[in-house]
Amino acid sequence: MVICRAENYDSMSRKAAIVIASQIITKPDSVLGLATGSTPVGTYRYLTEFSRKSDLDWSRITTFNLDEYQGVSPENPHSYHYFMKANLFDQINIQKSNTYLPDGMDPDAHRACERYDTMIRESGGMDLQLLGLGRNGHIGFNEPGGCFAKDTHCVNLSRSTIDANTRFFDSRDDVPKRAYTMGINTIMRAKKIILLVSGKEKADILQKVVCGPVTPEVPASILQMHGDVTVIADKEALCEV
Ligand code: GLP
Repeated sequence: MVICRAENYDSMSRKAAIVIASQIITKPDSVLGLATGSTPVGTYRYLTEFSRKSDLDWSRITTFNLDEYQGVSPENPHSYHYFMKANLFDQINIQKSNTYLPDGMDPDAHRACERYDTMIRESGGMDLQLLGLGRNGHIGFNEPGGCFAKDTHCVNLSRSTIDANTRFFDSRDDVPKRAYTMGINTIMRAKKIILLVSGKEKADILQKVVCGPVTPEVPASILQMHGDVTVIADKEALCEV
């Protein structure tokens, strides 16, 4: 695991965008795994800026997002489809038909998740996977206590994740309780992984992820077993490492 210490959120975002940009430049038909949440917003802003200055060509890039809420349509501003369009896809020259997220509107969870895994496999798999870190150590929506050996699947969100995501909704009752997410297996098959972490409130969990035992109680701790992981985190998040 390589740990890259950034001065602050902005510097973390710029470093991550540079890594993703070099991936796009060196392999213009890369398959990228993308993440949502507030952490990667700054990274997407820098990538948008690099693209606007026409240094970055996304025309042959394919993307797969980690997860999507079940029962939330792509037009709903709370969906991850909507988030990705607003924060990245609408700002760059990617072909929308090459951007994939799990189909949250398919009520048949098994079918939706199996389809997603098939598409990822047929694309050749992720060259680079971007990850954020949930406050309880989740990646994607792989919650503590789950199984490491899973591909894309449907999850019941934990109470702490619902609480954390309430800030994006009018009330706690509006937060979806289930989601389709890439599994740990899917994530671990990516050739390269970037984990982004920012802020003091994630210092404790990041210490467990990086230095603690590998355990399903801290899902992101499995990243210690991957051969090419770079943690890009700001000073506050790294203050206990
Ligand atoms: C959600 C997403 C995760 C993300 C996490 C952290 O649960 N499914 O992929 O990493 O939120 O979000 P934030 O970056 O807002 O702290």
